[in-house]
Amino acid sequence: MGVTTVTDVRHTVSVDGPTVRASDPLSVLFQSEQGGHEQVVLCQDRESGLKAVIAIHSTALGPALGGTRFHAYASDEEAVLDALNLARGMSYKNALAGLEHGGGKAVIIGDPASVEQGGVKSEELLLAYGRFVASLGGRYVTACDVGTYVTDMDVVARENRWTTGRSPENGGAGDSSVLTSFGVFQGMRASAQHLWGEPTLRGRRVGVAGVGKVGHHLVAHLIEDGADVVVTDVLDASIDRVRVRFPQVTVVDSTSDLITGELDVYAPCALGGALDDVSVPALTAKVVCGAANNQLAHPGVEKDLADRGILYAPDYVVNAGGVIQVADELHGFDFDRAKAKATKIYDTTLAIFERASSEGIPPAEAADRIAEQRMAEARRS
Ligand SMILES: NC(=O)c1ccc[n+]([C@@H]2O[C@H](COP(=O)([O-])OP(=O)(O)OC[C@H]3O[C@@H](n4cnc5c(N)ncnc54)[C@H](O)[C@@H]3O)[C@@H](O)[C@H]2O)c1
Repeated sequence: MGVTTVTDVRHTVSVDGPTVRASDPLSVLFQSEQGGHEQVVLCQDRESGLKAVIAIHSTALGPALGGTRFHAYASDEEAVLDALNLARGMSYKNALAGLEHGGGKAVIIGDPASVEQGGVKSEELLLAYGRFVASLGGRYVTACDVGTYVTDMDVVARENRWTTGRSPENGGAGDSSVLTSFGVFQGMRASAQHLWGEPTLRGRRVGVAGVGKVGHHLVAHLIEDGADVVVTDVLDASIDRVRVRFPQVTVVDSTSDLITGELDVYAPCALGGALDDVSVPALTAKVVCGAANNQLAHPGVEKDLADRGILYAPDYVVNAGGVIQVADELHGFDFDRAKAKATKIYDTTLAIFERASSEGIPPAEAADRIAEQRMAEARRS
């Protein structure tokens, strides 16, 4: 079953990475320096047990787009905070992906396992959630995220026209990892162009940590481009799949072995928080560019990378292939059209590096500024 992940990018409070910004929901909601949120909907359906939060950060560029996270939060406040932070992240991600979409996100509160398996997910609950999405009349477009799958979106879509990330049998685009990895590869080519003057990884040693859905496809792009690839993964099945298809790839035991070995490029493609106070000083690579969400473990890591002369391609910019795919699905999915859009991640990443260089700021900050500019221009017009 394909998983279409439209995940957050910045300032997550709980699931993806360790970045925690303690704050109460109302102050986050109205925080003016970050633009505040347009609308937050608290949803409850007593019959099915649904408890959900839909947060719309911005519709400046178009209907808010972002996935539905299903998670057993420690408290309702934490769930609201997560929705708020994830929705804001999607505004930035969608703006930089060049989409006509603002940022939004929903969270469903509870164990995402099915009722039969002891969780709370049921068809009735998903249909009730779909009716809440419908009630927003298109201001919010949903998709999969952690804890929700294409089969869930197929159910949610029965109640509204604003659900993407469905299965191909139901008009959806299916697995997003193909375009996500393609976008990461474009970001890596842009990094090579910026640093070494050539948009290719040919002859470079690239380390991929995590060869699951995205990492595996990324290895294929790198091999085709002539890179020397090293991988690591905690799952034998993931490693075996790479070994069979690409016997020339080197396998190492751990991420720590990977990053301390001689590398030109490090591609975190597993979990969030890969770049922290331990890993950054140990890195031998000159470029970090990977699919994992929330790679920066805490604010300030982007500066540590810059101080070490390591070029960081912001995660939410280079992993936007998935959201580009689900956005395309709204118009009847066309793989070539979506791929053409994902190709532009190359230009966007390059523009971010150029702005970072000219303004003397880390690329992560330059990316935020470009996104904010696009949203401000849209609001003015
Ligand atoms: N799938 C998408 O379209 C998409 C889109 C945007 C962002 N992302 C992000 O990219 C990352 C990878 O996504 P995916 O869909 O390939 O997930 P996946 O679950 O298919 O693959 C992740 C792989 O990482 C491995 N892994 C886990 N912990 C590890 C560790 N400590 N060291 C080494 N390997 C480890 C797993 O065994 C697995 O093989 C995630 O952070 C995800 O949020 C994915």
